[in-house]
Amino acid sequence: MRSDILQSGPASSISGEYEWFFWTMVTVCTLVALGIAIVLVYSMIRFHRKRENQMGSQRQLNIPLEVSWTAIPFFAFIGMFAYGAKLYFDIERPPDNAIPIYVVGKQWMWKLQHPGGQREINELHVPINQPVKLTMTSQDVIHSFYVPSFRIKQDVLPDRYTSIWFEATRPGKYHLFCAEYCGTKHSGMIGWVYAMEPHDYQAWLSDGGAEGSLASMGQKWFHQFACANCHHFDSAGRCPDLRNLFGKPVELSTGETVVADEGYIRESILDPRAKIVNGFQDIMPSFKGQISEEQVIDLISFIKAIGPQSNIEQHTSPGSVPQEYGNQKGIAGPGTVSISGSKPETR
Ligand code: CUA
Repeated sequence: MRSDILQSGPASSISGEYEWFFWTMVTVCTLVALGIAIVLVYSMIRFHRKRENQMGSQRQLNIPLEVSWTAIPFFAFIGMFAYGAKLYFDIERPPDNAIPIYVVGKQWMWKLQHPGGQREINELHVPINQPVKLTMTSQDVIHSFYVPSFRIKQDVLPDRYTSIWFEATRPGKYHLFCAEYCGTKHSGMIGWVYAMEPHDYQAWLSDGGAEGSLASMGQKWFHQFACANCHHFDSAGRCPDLRNLFGKPVELSTGETVVADEGYIRESILDPRAKIVNGFQDIMPSFKGQISEEQVIDLISFIKAIGPQSNIEQHTSPGSVPQEYGNQKGIAGPGTVSISGSKPETR
């Protein structure tokens, strides 16, 4: 099947279960509502007052009947809740091997970035049978990333990251919508997701004309914004050592511990005073207003690359790493990120 032919209907790894669950809920709720309506109408006819002065009478309690009409719906609905909760956790927890793709929403377009540096607007190319994790933020108002055929929808908020993942199962072209009213041209904030056979995706990636991987762009910004002047890659500096940071717990001056995820790193760049690492001074200036969301994403990719997530295969990219960084490692996800292609700008 070709990836440029418009497809509809469920087409992701979770959509089958979601379909099944949705129709089970519709069926159960319809049957319950119908059952109640039928008994109601029947009782109105059967037990209505027939004479002006008729008195009601007390009916004998029917224990088995009362227990069963309480217990059966209770277990049926708790069962639906439990299954719904399971599906919720499935969609909230991306698999470790998911391709990280970054999404920035703005009035009125979607900007998408692949780890290799390929950028797209209102289009997203993905391989089939491979999980894809979207990390999303907005440059202005609230948007919502919605691909009906994949049964995914997630709000995209300014000033923080939200994420969702999916795994396309059928090649084709699928509708992408903004599902949150975001201004005059909200209805035009639409696009396409192209699900491709893996070899077609690889071909697409290499035609992508990327200026360099996100990590290498991040490395450039790391020097351009003079981060490197203080964040030396040794533990003796005045600023925290960023090697091997990503995904690790960080102890703060308040005694709390947070995990260094995308949201934490973004906050540390834009609002460094919010969380001070234990043992360090509050000396970092804020980069709010000076750095774009895309540059923040590049920097995060760079920090990820110098500190591999433990569950990702490590590999070094000899020759491409500036000497001053010592033994950096790149992350090798699908669509490998290696820190190459850009020489650091020294200032
Ligand atoms: Cu963006 Cu509606």
